[in-house]
Amino acid sequence: MSPLLEMKDLDFAYGDVHVLHGVSLTVDKGEIVTLVGSNGAGKSTTLRNISRLLKPRSGAIVFDGHDLTRLSPHAVVELGVVQVPEGRRVFPEMTVLENLRMGSYIKSARPDREKNIERALALFPRLRERRNQLAGTLSGGEQQMLAIGRGLMTKPRLLLLDEPSLGLSPLLVKTIFDTIAEINAQGTTVLLVEQNVFQSLRIAHRGYVLETGRMVLSGSGQDLLGNEQVKAAFLGV
Ligand SMILES: Nc1ncnc2c1ncn2[C@@H]1O[C@H](COP(=O)(O)OP(=O)(O)O)[C@@H](O)[C@H]1O
Ligand SMILES: [Mg+2]
Repeated sequence: MSPLLEMKDLDFAYGDVHVLHGVSLTVDKGEIVTLVGSNGAGKSTTLRNISRLLKPRSGAIVFDGHDLTRLSPHAVVELGVVQVPEGRRVFPEMTVLENLRMGSYIKSARPDREKNIERALALFPRLRERRNQLAGTLSGGEQQMLAIGRGLMTKPRLLLLDEPSLGLSPLLVKTIFDTIAEINAQGTTVLLVEQNVFQSLRIAHRGYVLETGRMVLSGSGQDLLGNEQVKAAFLGV
């Protein structure tokens, strides 16, 4: 069976600055795959190429038989590939419920709007308590929950998460990762980009390590957690 997502030999440059060098990865249906790497490694750039916010210099990105590099960002969302961007970006002057509704902007998602709101509120009870509160008054962790909840409003087939744990307390980080595992268990395939190597590999089926735009390691989450190179570079062991 072919993977749900296959990225092959992707090269990308911001102008003259060559950032991704032949990056390849696959995500199978039902998996959580995590892409880890230090700040500046090219993780967000990789995700933005998948969601078509950036255009690769060369290489292929195929999702469920569709060549994403030929599609518009909107068409990529219509196919079921949804990115929750780094840094949350909720609408601060709108309530939690209004933010969630904004997530179902594509036509096919509208009939299931109320059901998907209920799913998001069930996953994040904190959001239910604060459903009529303005998003700008939420804590960082609650805004991250809202950003993920909004991403679920189109019932994505592949959810792309860009550093959901950034800037959160250890307890909230655990809550967020446990919920990502639950979202996956409910049937959503996840590609997770993280600097929090330990927590993200803990919930991942497989992982990749990106180092200054090059893929240097891959393996099961467990194997990578035990890998000497990973331990030395990221886990401070
Ligand atoms: N808009 C941009 N213009 C030029 N260079 C950029 C831009 N965005 C990111 N970069 C550079 O590309 C590299 C990868 O960045 P990024 O993908 O954001 O890394 P990560 O998400 O792993 O921290 C970095 O060296 C960064 O400085
Ligand atoms: Mg980034």
